[in-house]
Amino acid sequence: MMTQDELKKIAAEKAVEFVPENEYIGIGTGSTVNFFIEALGKSGKKIKGAVTTSKKSSELMAQYGIPEIHPNEVQRLAIYVDGADEINHMMEMIKGGGAAHLPEKIVAKLSDQFICIADESKYVRRLGKFPLPIEVVPMARSMVARQLVKLGGQPELRIGCKTLHGNEILDVTGLDLSEPIKMERALNEITGLVENGLFAERPADLLILAKKDGVELIRANVK
Ligand code: 5RP
Repeated sequence: MMTQDELKKIAAEKAVEFVPENEYIGIGTGSTVNFFIEALGKSGKKIKGAVTTSKKSSELMAQYGIPEIHPNEVQRLAIYVDGADEINHMMEMIKGGGAAHLPEKIVAKLSDQFICIADESKYVRRLGKFPLPIEVVPMARSMVARQLVKLGGQPELRIGCKTLHGNEILDVTGLDLSEPIKMERALNEITGLVENGLFAERPADLLILAKKDGVELIRANVK
C-alpha cells in the first residue's frame, strides 16, 4: 500500500522530465513541491534560475543548488511546477493550503505552462470540499468576512498565520464554486480582499497525477 507521500514523490519526480534546460522556471510551495525541488536538484539539470513562492521553497532550493531569481527580473517563465489542494477535470484548482496562493497566482500568470503535481486524493469532481483560502488585509478582515457571508460562505480565520506579505487568511466553506471563474472574479472585487485561492482564470495546463496503479498525465477536458 503506497502512502500519500510516496505518491507525491512519484508525481514530483515525473515533473523533472518536463523541465527545459537553460530556461527560467517557477517553483511553488508545499510538501509535493518539496519532493520536486529535491528531485530537480539531484537530477543535475541546468536551469537559468527559478522564481519561487515561499521562504521554505527558497531555502530548500538553496540547499539543492537551484539558483533563485526575483520575479521582477524575468518577463516570462517557461514552466511553473506546483501542487494543489484540489483540482478538477478542467484543471481548475483550489490552492493556498500553505497560505502562498498570492505569490503562486503571480508566478502562474508569468508562466507559459503550469504543471500541477498531485497524488490522486487531490483530483475531485467538484471543487469546494477543501475550504477556500482567502488572503485579506488585516484591517479589513471583519468587513471582508461579512461580504463573504453575504455570498453564502462561512469564513474562519486561520489562527497564527501571516502570509509572506503580512496579511491574514480566511478559510471559507459553503461558497458555490460551480462556476469557478465567476466566483474567482467576484471575490476579488471585494475591497480589502487581496487574493483568493481559486485558480480558474489561469488553470493548470497539465496535471501529473500519481495513482496507486501508475502515473496519469491529464490535460483540460472541455467536454
Ligand atoms: C500552497 C499550495 C499547495 O500547492 C497546496 O497546499 C498543496 O500542498 P501539498 O503539496 O503539501 O499537499 O497551494 O499554498
